[in-house]
Amino acid sequence: LSNGLALTPPMGFNYWNFDGCETNLINETMMMNTAYAMSTNGMARVGYEYVNLDDCWMAKSRDENGNLLPDPIRFPSGIKHLADYIHSLGLKFGIYGDIGTTTCKGYPGSENYLEQDAKTFAEWGVDFVKMDGCNMQVEDMKEAYTDLGKYLQATGRPMVYSCSWPTYAYVENITMPFDYIEGICNLWREFQDIRDDFTEWTQILDEMEDSLPKRSQFAGPSHFNDPDMLEIGNGLESNIEYKSMISLWSIIAAPLIAGNDILTMSKETLEILINEEVIQVNQDPLGLQGNRVYQNQGLEVYQRTLINDSYAIAMFNRGDVQSDITITSDMLNLTNHQNFNIRDLWSHTDNGTFSDTFTASVEPHGTIMIKLSPKINNIYLPLKYRKHLLK
Ligand code: GLA
Repeated sequence: LSNGLALTPPMGFNYWNFDGCETNLINETMMMNTAYAMSTNGMARVGYEYVNLDDCWMAKSRDENGNLLPDPIRFPSGIKHLADYIHSLGLKFGIYGDIGTTTCKGYPGSENYLEQDAKTFAEWGVDFVKMDGCNMQVEDMKEAYTDLGKYLQATGRPMVYSCSWPTYAYVENITMPFDYIEGICNLWREFQDIRDDFTEWTQILDEMEDSLPKRSQFAGPSHFNDPDMLEIGNGLESNIEYKSMISLWSIIAAPLIAGNDILTMSKETLEILINEEVIQVNQDPLGLQGNRVYQNQGLEVYQRTLINDSYAIAMFNRGDVQSDITITSDMLNLTNHQNFNIRDLWSHTDNGTFSDTFTASVEPHGTIMIKLSPKINNIYLPLKYRKHLLK
């Protein structure tokens, strides 16, 4: 969707993956405290920007004029107040709705209220709309998501538009017009809901890589595939696995929406979330989604093309034993065959020169993530320019 937003994959927070619909935990204080924490703990500094509600923030019914309302006990100051506070921290505010009759958890849906709800969101100061697709026929989604997009646009307020249509098409095995959705949504959820489980998210990764049509061709600035939110720090996986997750989510240009409790997370969790060298890959300005370029018995290589003739490479060991993974120039898609500097994005060290091959020993479920950047001394420069460089 060419609305000038989400030029790189959105980064932020959403409570769904750890709070779910626990209404005793979802309230304005938690949201404000989380936003404040993000503005001070380094997350905002590295790009986490959107502080998002998910399901279960609403009152059970609309007001007498048909307007959406927040739960009055849990959001006593109202949504505009929450948005204003988040904006005062320099962050942005996201909301959750559903295009059908009710949300997945039974709160009011936007069917028959698309224009009214778009206006309400704009009045409240919403910057990001996640529009779920429970309780609507997949056949009706094309029209509904298109209409809501027009109503959001008509408000004049810039709002990132995240659509869940492909998730519902996928589970029902209905063909999705991706060349159409990339024109009407900034991002679109794919596949089933993620869980804090290595097997589960690697399955989503497989679906992203193996499903036809090839998903990466539809990604670019302002239009990204969304394999679902992060589970980093939710406690059921090791930090090795969480590092693999954010490495691979960065290669595939996925939104980085932290799905853990920001207020209680460990230092290790925070460090994984705010590794700037990995985030730079995710936020590369070309916005190209990378792909798996090699797999053999659980040893895999992923490649993403970056700006300045550089590449991000993830060497991912899905197996249960420490193993060597070798990348070769034949395996990679390189536009120029030249020497590259090897930068390790987790150890933050330079690791020699890549000309034809590079081998690393990768721990079980771990990922070695490197960036290959052209070595300047490879490039032939006439003497007059070389003198200039040496100055
Ligand atoms: C769906 C979505 C989830 C979450 C829940 C809320 O399952 O895919 O991401 O928003 O609904 O009920």
